[in-house]
Amino acid sequence: GMAEKAGYKHFMLKEIFEQPQAITNTISGRINPETGEVDLPEINLDREAIESFDRIFLVACGTSWHAALIAKYWIEKFAHIPVEVDIASEFRYRNLLINERVLTVSISQSGETADTLAGIRRAKEMGSKVVTICNVVGSTMTREADGTIYTHAGPEIGVASTKAFISQLAALFLFTLYLAGKKETVSAEKRLELGKALINIAGVVDRELPRLRTDIENLIDDFWDCRDFLFVGRGLSFPIALEGALKLKEISYIHAEGYASGELKHGPIALIDKEMPIVALIPRDEVYQKSLSNVEEIKARKGRLILFGTEGDTHLEKLTDDVIYLPEVHEEMNPILYTIPAQLLSYEIASRRGCDVDQPRNLAKSVTVE
Ligand code: G6P
Repeated sequence: GMAEKAGYKHFMLKEIFEQPQAITNTISGRINPETGEVDLPEINLDREAIESFDRIFLVACGTSWHAALIAKYWIEKFAHIPVEVDIASEFRYRNLLINERVLTVSISQSGETADTLAGIRRAKEMGSKVVTICNVVGSTMTREADGTIYTHAGPEIGVASTKAFISQLAALFLFTLYLAGKKETVSAEKRLELGKALINIAGVVDRELPRLRTDIENLIDDFWDCRDFLFVGRGLSFPIALEGALKLKEISYIHAEGYASGELKHGPIALIDKEMPIVALIPRDEVYQKSLSNVEEIKARKGRLILFGTEGDTHLEKLTDDVIYLPEVHEEMNPILYTIPAQLLSYEIASRRGCDVDQPRNLAKSVTVE
């Protein structure tokens, strides 16, 4: 009933609003706010072990796979270890080149997803150390891995993952800082800057959530009955475009695709006309200018642009009436911040369409069979 949803209409909405707390729970006790040093004794990897890895495999399904895609950018940039990201159902059956110099990390809300579990079992057999990033205490993956980073997001009821995803991002950023600290691939000063960025993001999300919800509610009047959507982004915004499209498909049953902005010209641009809504994530980051030219190409083809961008970037208003502004944060935190309006967009559209938001047809919270 309403009571267990704390007054929210759906668990999904409640869980979206629990995200600031989920981030705080994930990072608390693991990062020193004075120095930015991260401690993760639960993964049982000391400096020597970390130095011995020449590659990391990230293995996951669904929304957790999107978290892995973001982590690849972070780990390669700050810890200088090559990362391969695999969908677990592919990983488990392909010819893996894995040995004891490879670290395998599974990412799973439930810790029970059959493909991901089979993937880490194979990696272990081949001599890899296995760490799991998981939300459910005592789940199978946490029992089989050599170490676990619990996300501590609390129980997630909505089938479409929201707060578990956000806490996976927080855990993966902590993990990146831990590796970078042990390897000293970035200066102590930079690690403190990054640590502070992570500590501060929960407060920003908390402050912005109510306003974002209102902005999105107003925006969807013109879009809730569309048949298709495209989501585009570059760099750290690319996986969030994938996640935005997945969320919309899952709960509203609207066909949606996520694309890397630079790939538009290789196919999806053929779909753009005055009927097609395109959500473009365009924070002021290091690829901003490139993203802007992609958005201008969409505009030239009369696509119906919805822009998620940085407060004060008035140029965006010249391109469309439909701009959702987000405050400027440390650019590594943009994936966390830009996920919020993407979740709210799907939620409000699905809710308006009268969909069963918390239990969409044909989907399961945890897929424990192949
Ligand atoms: C199912 C859920 C998704 C989830 C995926 C992976 O498809 O509906 O929300 O992202 O499984 O689940 P996991 O528990 O491994 O993160």
